[in-house]
Amino acid sequence: MKIENSIALVTGSNRGVGKSLVAALANAGCKKIYAAARQTNNLELPDTGVEIIPLTLDVTKQETLENAAKLASDVQIIFNNAGVLEFGDILETPEQNLRSILDTNFFGKVAVAKTFAPVLEANGGGTIVNTLTLLSLASMPGFAAYNASKAAAWSMSLSLRASLQPKNIQVVNAFPGAIDTDMLASVEMDKTSPDDVAKEILHAVQNNQEDVFPDPMSKQVYEAWRQDHKAVEKQFASM
Ligand SMILES: NC(=O)c1ccc[n+]([C@@H]2O[C@H](COP(=O)([O-])OP(=O)(O)OC[C@H]3O[C@@H](n4cnc5c(N)ncnc54)[C@H](OP(=O)(O)O)[C@@H]3O)[C@@H](O)[C@H]2O)c1
Repeated sequence: MKIENSIALVTGSNRGVGKSLVAALANAGCKKIYAAARQTNNLELPDTGVEIIPLTLDVTKQETLENAAKLASDVQIIFNNAGVLEFGDILETPEQNLRSILDTNFFGKVAVAKTFAPVLEANGGGTIVNTLTLLSLASMPGFAAYNASKAAAWSMSLSLRASLQPKNIQVVNAFPGAIDTDMLASVEMDKTSPDDVAKEILHAVQNNQEDVFPDPMSKQVYEAWRQDHKAVEKQFASM
C-alpha cells in the first residue's frame, strides 16, 4: 500500500516506536497522521508541514476507541503499535498481571482491529499493522506474560488477515527484536533504534509484505527459527 498521500493512525505515538512511526510517516509523504496516545497533552510532533492530529486513545477503553474511530473516519492505515512489558517467570507471575498484560497486548489489539476494520472497509480498504515481537515465535522465560500475550496476538492476527482479505484490508505483522526504547531500557544488550525499525515497517507496508522482521536481530533469529525452531526454543529458554 502506498504511504504517500495516505491517511494513517498510530497507537502509542507519544514515545518509542510509535513516535518514530509518526516521524517516518511524515517523511514518507503521508497526507494526514492521527497521533493516538493515552495522554495527548505532551505529544512531541515532528514539524514537517504534514497535518498531524492528536487523538486520545487507550486501547483498553472501548469508549476512547469509538470516539477515535468517529474522529478518524478517513483513516486508511492503522499502526496497532501500543504495548506493555512486564518481566517475570510464568510460575511467579500473578494471574492479575497476566490478565493485565493480555488486556493491552492481546485484547487491546483485537479491539483496535475490530473498531477500525469497518472504517477501513468504508474507505475502500487499507492496512492494519500489528506490532508483535520475536517472542511471539519463541518464549523467553523471564518475559512469561509478554510472550503469551504476543503469541496470542500473532494467532489473532492470522485470523484477522483471513477475515479482512476479502474486504481489501491487508494485515502486516511486525516481529521486532530488541529496540532502544523505554520498554527495554533496563536490559543491557544490542538494540536497534526505533527510527530504523519504523522505516523498515513502512517499507514492508509499501511493498505489500505480510510479515516483517525489521532489524538485524529479528532477521537473524527468524532465519534460525525457519531452519530449526526447536533450536531457537532451547536457546531462548536458556536466556
Ligand atoms: N522495545 C522493544 O525491544 C520491542 C521489541 C519487540 C516489539 N516491541 C513492541 O513494539 C511496540 C512499541 O513498543 P516500544 O518499544 O515503543 O515501547 P515503549 O517505549 O514502552 O512505548 C509503549 C507505548 O505504548 C503505549 N501504551 C501502553 N499501553 C497503552 C494503552 N492501554 N493504550 C494506548 N497506548 C498504550 C505507551 O503509552 P504511555 O506512554 O501512555 O504508557 C507508549 O506510547 C509494542 O507493541 C512492543 O511490544 C518492542
